[in-house]
Amino acid sequence: MSARTPATAYDHLWMHFTRMGDYADTPVPVIVRGEGAYIHDDRGKRYIDGLSGLFVVNAGHGRRELAETAARQAAELAYFPIWGYAHPRAVELAERLAHLAPGDLDKVFFTTGGGEAVETAWKLAKQYHKLTGNPGRYKVISRAVAYHGTPHGALSITGLPALKAPFEPLVPGAFRVPNTNIYRAPVHGDDPEAFGRWAADRIEEQILFEGPDTVAAVFLEPVQNAGGCFPPPPGYFPRVREICDRHGVLLVSDEVICAFGRLGTTFGCERYGYVPDMITCAKGMTSGYSPIGACIVSDRVAEPFHRGGEAFLHGYTFGGHPVSAAVALANLDLLDREGLNRRVRDHEADFRATLDRLRDLPVVGDVRGSGYFHGIELVKDKATKETFTPEETERVLYGFLSRELFANGLYCRADDRGDPVIQLAPPLVAGQQLFDEIEAILRDVLTRAWAKL
Ligand SMILES: Cc1ncc(COP(=O)(O)O)c(C=O)c1O
Repeated sequence: MSARTPATAYDHLWMHFTRMGDYADTPVPVIVRGEGAYIHDDRGKRYIDGLSGLFVVNAGHGRRELAETAARQAAELAYFPIWGYAHPRAVELAERLAHLAPGDLDKVFFTTGGGEAVETAWKLAKQYHKLTGNPGRYKVISRAVAYHGTPHGALSITGLPALKAPFEPLVPGAFRVPNTNIYRAPVHGDDPEAFGRWAADRIEEQILFEGPDTVAAVFLEPVQNAGGCFPPPPGYFPRVREICDRHGVLLVSDEVICAFGRLGTTFGCERYGYVPDMITCAKGMTSGYSPIGACIVSDRVAEPFHRGGEAFLHGYTFGGHPVSAAVALANLDLLDREGLNRRVRDHEADFRATLDRLRDLPVVGDVRGSGYFHGIELVKDKATKETFTPEETERVLYGFLSRELFANGLYCRADDRGDPVIQLAPPLVAGQQLFDEIEAILRDVLTRAWAKL
């Protein structure tokens, strides 16, 4: 390596979930700053941040108060662990989250991100059952195509075989049921209530297939991200709650994306009227100004761990980091003060209506989602819902759409973890003008993509 040649992003930075070979001869996009719902690259070009970074920057970019909070906290106490000790910001944030969370979800176990929160919830569920006389309950159920993170446990819960294949064998005992993709429903596609009952009943069926005495927990996102934003059909979650209660299985609401305003409520479960036993969350808790995650646990599940000499033998050096906890508190103040949850509820119908205009394009098969969290499924034939071949996905979705959207000023996600989708989740400060800009870029690029199919 020459000391005089400035390193490029490709030379040393190992980008996540990235085919590094794609960048051997192509410059890596380098984003240098953000303002509101926009980001700028190192050549001065501006883009719409149509994905809030990675479903993270809910309050929008460039919030000085969050940056200044981080600096103040680092100067006062940059670090102390929460292993047998506490620091004020972790105490305050745990209290704040406990008050915001529904029901008796009162205990907060901090992590540094979402996958760790999911990992924590599975381990906690296993030990909870051991402590309460059910040592055989260790299995978990989650949904096809759902993404729950990369640690071995969280990856085992993930329903994406291609992501898991390089790392098999994974943690035993994780089982999948169908998700709530009504667009491709095998039954009841024209009756959301009946489809919701059917999909919830697949969970009960799987519990019975495995034997209720072996099942520890069910992991579900309020709106499933991977596959392209599948909201729950009416009645789905209340029925899942009943099923879990009937069989003594814990319900984990994985809200790594769906919390902190993304769906217009602090927690996604609020929006869909259910109270889980645990909530896993991360991302938007600080709007990305510093990393943190959490597993919020009900008093009932936490109680056996608070008895006598019991301990949950689990933790992270940086869990509940003082700077991140301080930033999370300031971010929650900001979301409150600016009424961003309310804003999402007031404007989500406009966001949806703007994206729905794209339905006149032959390549747009479905538009779905909730809050500021939507997916557009692409098809080759609207009538038959025929999807892309692997070759078309490679050539059109990745080779053209993904790059062309970015080149035209829209950072968002073109994804084929289920069927091909474009995903949109702008910062919660977005309004009609931004929705229109997003629609105009999508219309132009999707029209040109169609010509390539
Ligand atoms: C639902 C869900 N769970 C877990 C994770 C993993 O979170 P992290 O990348 O912070 O580990 C994600 C990330 O997108 C997610 O969407």
